[in-house]
Amino acid sequence: MEFYLDSADLNAIERLARFMPIQGVTTNPSIIAKGGKPLAQALPALRSLIGPDKILFAQVMADKAEDMVKEAEQLQTLDHQLVVKVPVTAEGLLAIQQLKTRNITTLGTAVYSPMQALLAALAGASYVAPYVNRIDAQGGSGIKCVQELQQLLTLHAPHCQILAASFKTPRQVLDCLLAGCTSITLPIDVAEQLIRSPAVDAAITQFNQDWHQAFGA
Ligand code: E4P
Repeated sequence: MEFYLDSADLNAIERLARFMPIQGVTTNPSIIAKGGKPLAQALPALRSLIGPDKILFAQVMADKAEDMVKEAEQLQTLDHQLVVKVPVTAEGLLAIQQLKTRNITTLGTAVYSPMQALLAALAGASYVAPYVNRIDAQGGSGIKCVQELQQLLTLHAPHCQILAASFKTPRQVLDCLLAGCTSITLPIDVAEQLIRSPAVDAAITQFNQDWHQAFGA
């Protein structure tokens, strides 16, 4: 089982990594923009925080395959171990093929259907990231997508691994893990909700009150 954090917030990653077994950090352009630091600063800072043995992901923004490949190579000059996220479009599939021949590890991202992800896997992606909450928000089923995708990969592209992404609730995380998914990336707020809840706080407060009423300080 692998947990990743979908964030570039150094303080939050450090805080959560103390009690969660984090395998690495995933980012996308929105996450990097929110952090306010360009990739040239953000990626080295994230690498320095997570250390050399963890996995770091960053995404290309170009539209054309040729430009995606150049961008991926530039990103790897910032972090030699970087896994490059490539949106699974027709151009993205071409880029994934070309990056495979250059030995650059890729993750097919912006996945909204099992077949889309299978094509990324067949093009040479090592990971694919179905967007669980965004699929749910469209009226689909993110979990069903993950389940069907897992069957497809097992049958047709066993080299490729699902890294389920886009979670908004702990229930989505639980359902995804129960469906057999073994790698997920979580935004900070959802990761925190896995351990924090008002009910837990209220229970502990009540235990403390009862103890102090009976025995004093
Ligand atoms: C992962 O590849 C995506 O960048 C990310 O998980 C999307 O999550 P969001 O739907 O919460 O923005």
